[in-house]
Amino acid sequence: MSEDVQGQATDEASESSESSEATIAVHWREEGYIPPPPKFIGQANASDPAILDRFAEENFPECFREYADLLHWDEYWHTTLDTSDPPFWKWFAGGKLNASYNCVDRHLAGDRNKAALIWVPEPEDEADAVITYQELYRRVNEFAAVLQDLGVQAGDRVTLHMPMVPELPVTMLACARLGVVHSQVFAGFSGGACGGRIADSGSKILITMDGYYRSGDLLDHKVKADEAVEAARKEGQEVDKVLVWRRFPGQYSAKTPMVEGRDVFVDDLLADHRGAVVEPVSMPAEAPLFLMYTSGTTGRPKGCQHSTGGYLSYVAGTSKFYQDIHPDDTYWCMADIGWITGHSYIVYGPLALGTTTVLYEGTPNYPDAGRPWRVAERLGVNIFHTSPTAIRMLRKVGPDEPAKYDYHFKAMTTVGEPIEPEVYRWYFSTVGKGEAIITDTWWQTETGGFIGTGLPGLFPMKPGSCGPAALGIYLDILDENGDSIPKGSGKAGNIVSRAPWPGVFQTIWGQPERFVSTYFEKYNKDSGSTDWHDWPYFAGDGAVQSEDGYFRILGRVDDVINVAGHRLGTKELESSALSVEEVAEAAAVPVVDDVRGRVVEMYIALKPGNEASAEIEGKVKTAIETDIGKIARPKNIWIVPDMPKTRSGKIMRRVIASVSNFTDVGDITTLANPEVVDKIRDQVQSAKRAKGEEPRELSETEEHEIKTYGEQE
Ligand code: WTA
Repeated sequence: MSEDVQGQATDEASESSESSEATIAVHWREEGYIPPPPKFIGQANASDPAILDRFAEENFPECFREYADLLHWDEYWHTTLDTSDPPFWKWFAGGKLNASYNCVDRHLAGDRNKAALIWVPEPEDEADAVITYQELYRRVNEFAAVLQDLGVQAGDRVTLHMPMVPELPVTMLACARLGVVHSQVFAGFSGGACGGRIADSGSKILITMDGYYRSGDLLDHKVKADEAVEAARKEGQEVDKVLVWRRFPGQYSAKTPMVEGRDVFVDDLLADHRGAVVEPVSMPAEAPLFLMYTSGTTGRPKGCQHSTGGYLSYVAGTSKFYQDIHPDDTYWCMADIGWITGHSYIVYGPLALGTTTVLYEGTPNYPDAGRPWRVAERLGVNIFHTSPTAIRMLRKVGPDEPAKYDYHFKAMTTVGEPIEPEVYRWYFSTVGKGEAIITDTWWQTETGGFIGTGLPGLFPMKPGSCGPAALGIYLDILDENGDSIPKGSGKAGNIVSRAPWPGVFQTIWGQPERFVSTYFEKYNKDSGSTDWHDWPYFAGDGAVQSEDGYFRILGRVDDVINVAGHRLGTKELESSALSVEEVAEAAAVPVVDDVRGRVVEMYIALKPGNEASAEIEGKVKTAIETDIGKIARPKNIWIVPDMPKTRSGKIMRRVIASVSNFTDVGDITTLANPEVVDKIRDQVQSAKRAKGEEPRELSETEEHEIKTYGEQE
């Protein structure tokens, strides 16, 4: 890239202002713009600014026909947006379609022998699996026949706990073919976490795999199925069948025995359905397509329910215009299908557009930091999509690796967490070789697809900002009173979407009141209104908008810690720690981390009569790994003499968060036990120094997050 672009930062710090819970003053160096390369613009799906007019507010909601028209509809809809039961919006009401048909069957006529999926196994000496649309069609039909044979019907929920293998999209699309609601749980989650989600969704069938490769090891994954079934049973849900795909068909890779009568190998069942064809079930647009569980402020995870018509239209449209996917691209999103990113932008969006989507089984730096770039070179990947955590990690372990490989990206994406401008620049110049645009995409499990990001051919990039609102999305930043904070004021607040959009989730499975109270109550002024203007969507993120209309996302305003782009609920972590007999109190706090964005540290106070010990620490660690998964394992567990508390007994999380981050603990005069703060600081900070965890300078927004942590309750 040229020097002038990189060096173009101007200082636009604004006046300081009063700081309240959601309204903080933000001063940051305004980054310079990076224009999209002309070669990109020349071929971009959206390069004519007329598209902005087509999606202007006066054309809402009809503008979204343009997305829905990317699909095949069995019956056209009569009402684009039905607002009769707010905020349970119905998109494309009256329309009928099948998601599996749209992602598979309809591409056969023109692209039968084109690769739909290219699967890259983690072991480098194992061959890729190239699955054409024809082959995908065969596999989806055969597995749909298996499910049908088991009596599964439209509307039933089925839980999947599968790794990154082609059998996962096959399973999802087979469910979709039958109108069965799939609920895929990230394979890295524990059996216990999976069991809780089985129970919540009322699934009678669990679909899993015997094993998969991760960092060079073939993991026994089947053992988690047994734990999951047990955990679901404790919550009153019986699992009738566990369907076990085999990583190597015909050969069992797990040590855990199969349970007679309950567990079946999928390859055995498929043998009876060779060549089966199952008619896709024509589903109403508002029929649920899948559930995706995510963390919230209470311990119970939220099953975000996504629709068939609205969701599929939205991910197809955003894949086309923001990922710039053309049918002949080779697109690689290095996320896991167990998260929303993988559902929307590995499986449904790219396949709806009939492109080639790459799936990678393992860890990005296995066996070395050149792996992703070797894959890109070998497969001719030209669109690449990943998270800031992966970029930070690859930069740390192999800053010069990309230059060694002959690949050329036209477009790259970042998602899941704020990206530091410095990391952004490495992504742009080293990974993208200065040739590729970057779309920084802000969105959530709940939103189905990108909602804050600029069209890459029309808006210049600005490191650290996701860009303006996406097409047809009308974002705003509100203060605690619901008043709009003007752009360019330098003040942050709560980011909201003023209007619905087709990709928004429909409800929280089984908890419609929580859906309303978490996302809409805060800014709704009239609960009887059927006018969408009265129902802004509260996203739970703090943000600031600069003069040019670009948004910069500051992070969560609730009790969620974003570890490596994955949302972990503070309450889930704490209730897991509290399940350990000796533990009286537990508090989880975020610690700023150079690679993972945030990591979790857990503070523990013991019941009287117990002494701090490595054994109790170990029990807490095991409890969290068992209840949630290794991803949630705290970086440190501190057993402290007492928690800093207010006189009303509330744990002051901001105080311990500040201690863990080596920052000033702020005002502690309101504490009932201020003397404990010094003790905790000495204990924690000296232990950290002994481990080589030195203080790290925090940016202004990081410091704000830490110093106000837990104050929103
Ligand atoms: C954060 C992931 C900054 C945000 C798709 C959001 C981001 C949460 C960005 C959702 C981004 C996501 N810049 N922060 N581009 N994208 N986030 O549900 O706090 O796993 O609320 O969905 O991640 O995480 P989720």
